[in-house]
Amino acid sequence: MSNIGSYDERIKNFDWSLAEKELDYKDGDTFNIGWYCSDRICEQGKANKLALIWEGLGGVEKRYTFNDVRVRSNTIGHFLKGLGIKNEDRVCLFMDKIPELYIGFLGVLKIGAVAQPLFSAFGDESLHVRLDNAQTTAIITQRKHVGKVRKILDQMPYLKHIIIVDHDGKKELKEREMVFSMDEAAPVEKFEIFPTKAESPSVLHYTSGTTGQPKGVKHVHYSLISQYLTTKWVLDLQDNDIYWCTADPGWVTGTSYGIIGPWSLGITQCVLDTGFGAEPWYKFIEKNKISMWYSAPTAIRSLMKAGDEVVTQHDLSSLRHLASVGEPLNAEAVIWSEKVFGLPFYDTYWQTETGSMMISNYPGMKVKPGSMGKTFPGITGVILDPDTFEEINEPNKPGLIGFKPDWPAMMRMYWRNEETYQKKFKNGWYMSGDRSTIDMDGYYWFVGRDDDVINTGGHLVSPFEVESALLEHEAVAESAVVAKPDDVNMEVVKAFVTLNKGYEASDELELKIMNFIRKKLSPLAMPQEIEYLDTLPKTRSGKIMRRLLHAKEWGEEIGDTSTLEDDAPRMI
Ligand code: WTA
Repeated sequence: MSNIGSYDERIKNFDWSLAEKELDYKDGDTFNIGWYCSDRICEQGKANKLALIWEGLGGVEKRYTFNDVRVRSNTIGHFLKGLGIKNEDRVCLFMDKIPELYIGFLGVLKIGAVAQPLFSAFGDESLHVRLDNAQTTAIITQRKHVGKVRKILDQMPYLKHIIIVDHDGKKELKEREMVFSMDEAAPVEKFEIFPTKAESPSVLHYTSGTTGQPKGVKHVHYSLISQYLTTKWVLDLQDNDIYWCTADPGWVTGTSYGIIGPWSLGITQCVLDTGFGAEPWYKFIEKNKISMWYSAPTAIRSLMKAGDEVVTQHDLSSLRHLASVGEPLNAEAVIWSEKVFGLPFYDTYWQTETGSMMISNYPGMKVKPGSMGKTFPGITGVILDPDTFEEINEPNKPGLIGFKPDWPAMMRMYWRNEETYQKKFKNGWYMSGDRSTIDMDGYYWFVGRDDDVINTGGHLVSPFEVESALLEHEAVAESAVVAKPDDVNMEVVKAFVTLNKGYEASDELELKIMNFIRKKLSPLAMPQEIEYLDTLPKTRSGKIMRRLLHAKEWGEEIGDTSTLEDDAPRMI
């Protein structure tokens, strides 16, 4: 029997207070995700149950029970508090997918501070922009990443503490740096958790937009209500499940469903910190008897590419439920997974801003391959006319997805960016920025994004960020960055540049520019290709028309060019 039972029954008279009751929460109580994910689970008699099975390079394994997670997050909290870090201070987690990241996340929350997880693959510039916006007080990192912090340290007077979790004593510590070893520090059995309330800030995730710098999405502790219930009903996690979420906590999937969701339900989860590979992934599932697997379309398409034979070489019979998020999950991938695993991937749709799943496929409900599914109970979704923002009530007619902003995990603001936050609302609807249709049965079918953001392998890349990095190179006069089609990643980043006087277009220069921006950006945002143009297409007001370059890459109709500069269309 699935946790949700019948979707149709659940949507009748749904109320989020159901989750409040299950979590024994009453309005006005102290509310702390760190406590819910460790202390409470121990109080429920699961102290000795495994919380985390971690595997790193070379097959190194570490295991932590819920009591280990409770004590170690206390220990980290105690250490941070000792440094003078207070509630609402931002603490960045800048690590690979190591246990310190998962447990440290709870430690930060336990002192009432705001956890700011960032991909460890970020270059110094990507890191700086995000720390600067958040005015981050402390960063927890590894010795292999500390060089990037040192490089930008002079520009960050607000960053008081750099905590290295794996220092081996070989190299000297520099200014503001210190050492903390989670497994070796004196364990703190009892810790006074900061009395955060439902509306106290918890997590700050950065997400890319079309223009401007990345936006810091602020979430609050109360988000747990949505994350708990969606984990229970969509991922269908049950007490004896072994769960694997492949996402990095630098991405919201890796926190909402890679830490908070499973641990608030007291579920054992696995983490593989070795990157992608069909063979190692299947081996990991087989070895740990993983039963529930949450991944992303790019990974699924890569597995498809690796072929069916490698699947048959492993015993994957432990799998009982699969789900996906981050990009359109094409029907072929769903059909393929049914063929090779005997189970379809259940698509889920949501965003950094929404904090929890909005549209999903539910156990027991018919899956229509290629559709994102239906709104989660308690979520009001609509398709809006792009001009009037009025509801379109006609089945199969595309428009913008809007949501009534009333669910617990909804973002509370963009950090220090009220103006952009306000723009996300029209006629009382939260505008997702995505286009979709709804069919006769209430299923959503994704059409596309309504902006220029590139979704490469599930990672959102802001063209603006890549363009800015390109412009810093002395040879580059102008730049425009768009998506280009790709078999596996759906989209990859492509850059167009014009050159300054005195520079000649060449492969050698392309390589030089690539090396230059590689240090600034994350590998995910790196262009696959740079194309030289004499001029870029622009509107009469001088704005670069990425739309035209995009259309060229996708072999689409160019459409209305009436606002183009006179000479521009010639280069397309
Ligand atoms: C896209 C991810 C199609 C969409 C948790 C959204 C999807 C953006 C799906 C959010 C899906 C996410 N089908 N597109 N199932 N899921 N997207 O903030 O464009 O990194 O707005 O959060 O990814 O990406 P974000």
